[in-house]
Amino acid sequence: MTEKYRPTLHMTPNQGWMNDPNGLVYFNEQYHQFYQYYPHDTVWGPMHWGHKVSRDLIHWQELSPALYPDESGMCFSGSAIVDWNNVSGLFEDGRPGLLAFYTSFLQPSLTLDNGDSIENPIQQQSLAYSQDGNIWTKYKSGAPIIPARGNPDFRDPKVFWHQESEAWVMVVSCGQHIEFYRSRDLLEWRLVSEFGYRQGAHSKGPWECPDLFELSLQGTDKRYWVLVVGIGEGAHCEGAGTQYFVGDFDGETFTNLNHPGKVLWLDFGRDYYATQSFSDVPEQDGRRIVSTWMNNHQYSLELPSDSFRGTMTMPRELYLFESGDGIRVGQRFTKELGAAFQVDSQQLEPESEQALTLYHQDDVMHFQCDVTLDDEQTLHLGLYQDNVAFYEFRKVTTGSGETSLEVRSVRRGQFGLKRIDEHFPHDYRTLLPTNGEFRLEVLFDQGSAELLINGGEYSFTNLIYPTNTQASASLSVDSGTLRLSNLTTKSLMGEGTC
Ligand code: FRU
Repeated sequence: MTEKYRPTLHMTPNQGWMNDPNGLVYFNEQYHQFYQYYPHDTVWGPMHWGHKVSRDLIHWQELSPALYPDESGMCFSGSAIVDWNNVSGLFEDGRPGLLAFYTSFLQPSLTLDNGDSIENPIQQQSLAYSQDGNIWTKYKSGAPIIPARGNPDFRDPKVFWHQESEAWVMVVSCGQHIEFYRSRDLLEWRLVSEFGYRQGAHSKGPWECPDLFELSLQGTDKRYWVLVVGIGEGAHCEGAGTQYFVGDFDGETFTNLNHPGKVLWLDFGRDYYATQSFSDVPEQDGRRIVSTWMNNHQYSLELPSDSFRGTMTMPRELYLFESGDGIRVGQRFTKELGAAFQVDSQQLEPESEQALTLYHQDDVMHFQCDVTLDDEQTLHLGLYQDNVAFYEFRKVTTGSGETSLEVRSVRRGQFGLKRIDEHFPHDYRTLLPTNGEFRLEVLFDQGSAELLINGGEYSFTNLIYPTNTQASASLSVDSGTLRLSNLTTKSLMGEGTC
């Protein structure tokens, strides 16, 4: 019997705890997804890098952990690249291999003269290498390639090749800013600039898990750089959230295109953190594919679970679009997800002029439709039979006469534990710069619903724990007629497993 709330499609560890995606890389015709992992319990503990591989981004096979904590510290988040030309000199016969850049986290206790001891955390950047992607060796036994810099929060290196200036670049978060390093041989790194002072959203905690890459603006040949940064608390709707900046990067300095005070969120839900993009996805493919921890530090330790805790979102592909309010990042599910589904033959006629219910026999369902809202109408989208979460959509006209879409997101859930009971339920509103005609898409799996608007221009990713996990959605309007078109529901083809 399957475990309640164990997703069918989404990636979870076979057992134990999982947080951030790490070291996402395509190598030898496989996607490798490493992740923050503690195999011995379902709560956070001394961090390993767990390891899964996939050929289609849907079915993941779990391998032995790649990195283990030892006297050089725990293995915190980081990234991986293919060293195609063996510039590191770490591989035999000049063959390509994988390099993983991670943060070693040491927490030595200092004993003071008066006998008291204090914790003195040290975070530094370390390197590991692997010829085949499976067996890993810590370079210099985990000794740092970039030593601690005095700031206790100095972590999560992301490395990529910057073609224009012909150098390897590393972005690392340090306190509440991002540092940029350059290297020719992937072993020696030089600090070249910083970004973040008075830019975007800041809160009490450090910035975490940065990523930097170039994307094309849809329908043009213009390209922009996107800097992704996680904030562990104080995001748009409580707790953790993922912000981004759109700008330019010359190999040394990132320049924000927007006003420094402008805050852009990659997702408007509560469970979208530590986003990282895959490195070395084949050139002819040219996609920027990301994976994200579908969770929030506010309650991650208390989520209902049996043998595991931690789920990744479905991999998504990023793109840039012109929103009317500036250039924004959109994200759609990868084409591989489409291939996993078949279109349902279920009857899709509304039961009345005002309401329609969609459901599926099992717990996975994907549906899409075009919605047209009248001026005074509110569309209610109830998720699951117990309406344990719902969204309401309403067209609003702002003072300047422009039309926006107001989305109200409500989620319920009480689990008998203090932190989660306080922080899990929500009721908040988001204004989107789009109008009353939009495309709606929802992917259900056990324990979550990912909602995309207009092909991913706006996304809301939320964990949801219904009592009856059979996927269902009810769509209704409070007045007038429910106007939906191009509606499809899809069910899974064969067995999905992760
Ligand atoms: C983000 C994070 C990272 C860190 C890791 C530790 O969720 O706090 O900054 O490397 O988790 O597990």
